[in-house]
Amino acid sequence: MRRVLERATGRARFDAAVVLGSGLSDLARALVGGAPVPYHRIEGMPRSAVPGHEGALYYGDVGGVATLAFAGRAHLYEGYDARVVTRWVDLAVDAGCRVVVLTNAAGAVDTALEIGAPCLVSDHLNLTGHNPLVGPNDDARGPRFPDMSNVYDPSLRALARRVDPDLREAVYAGLLGPSYETPAEIRMLATLGAGLVGMSTVLEAIRARYLGARVLGVSVVTNLAAGLSPEPLTHDDVAVASRRAAARLETLLRGVLSGLGDGAP
Ligand code: HPA
Repeated sequence: MRRVLERATGRARFDAAVVLGSGLSDLARALVGGAPVPYHRIEGMPRSAVPGHEGALYYGDVGGVATLAFAGRAHLYEGYDARVVTRWVDLAVDAGCRVVVLTNAAGAVDTALEIGAPCLVSDHLNLTGHNPLVGPNDDARGPRFPDMSNVYDPSLRALARRVDPDLREAVYAGLLGPSYETPAEIRMLATLGAGLVGMSTVLEAIRARYLGARVLGVSVVTNLAAGLSPEPLTHDDVAVASRRAAARLETLLRGVLSGLGDGAP
């Protein structure tokens, strides 16, 4: 699998990979620029049909760090299985990436979180009912029972906070979707300790940890979760709010990637 991205990009090795979630695809271009490779030209790469998910891989140097920027991701709720939605993580790690940055749009379960701001993921609740490690295990790739005590790397979170000292942190609840949650489900998630809710990220984080990569998770808080505001939730509103938050996220991602290049932990 090592050569899939080399064939697609013409470059043999990368240091870090970023996936840009709902409404954030434009950031991939802003971050690394250049001509992207459409996902359909990358072997086995699923393409999201969700508006706001471009489906193209940008690549280049950011602050001296060879970076893959995946604009758009596929989701379980589109009918893809857990191994397919996490395939890009395997490709990135096989291309040399030791750091994987997962971004997403998320609802705020914790009403103290600022709408329109990025928020670090401190930990997650995988409530999707799926896991990308199900099936026979290849011990050469990772352990059968990988530890998940520190999925979201503490030193990467510290680096992110040095770049943006106002960043908050919260536990991300990952659900299958595609329906948004009911107010009762949001009350349940609050009781469980979640501050953020979304429909991605957790499977990719599990896969990346399994493969030995360090993970940073950043949510863009696009809305108050169901029942916490009188407004109904729409994907259009989520995508618009996400795009509005893009500038601050770009500064954060650029700072984190440059920090990796400076040899920060
Ligand atoms: N719920 C689930 N996923 C989301 C939300 C939400 O409120 N906002 C953005 N993605």
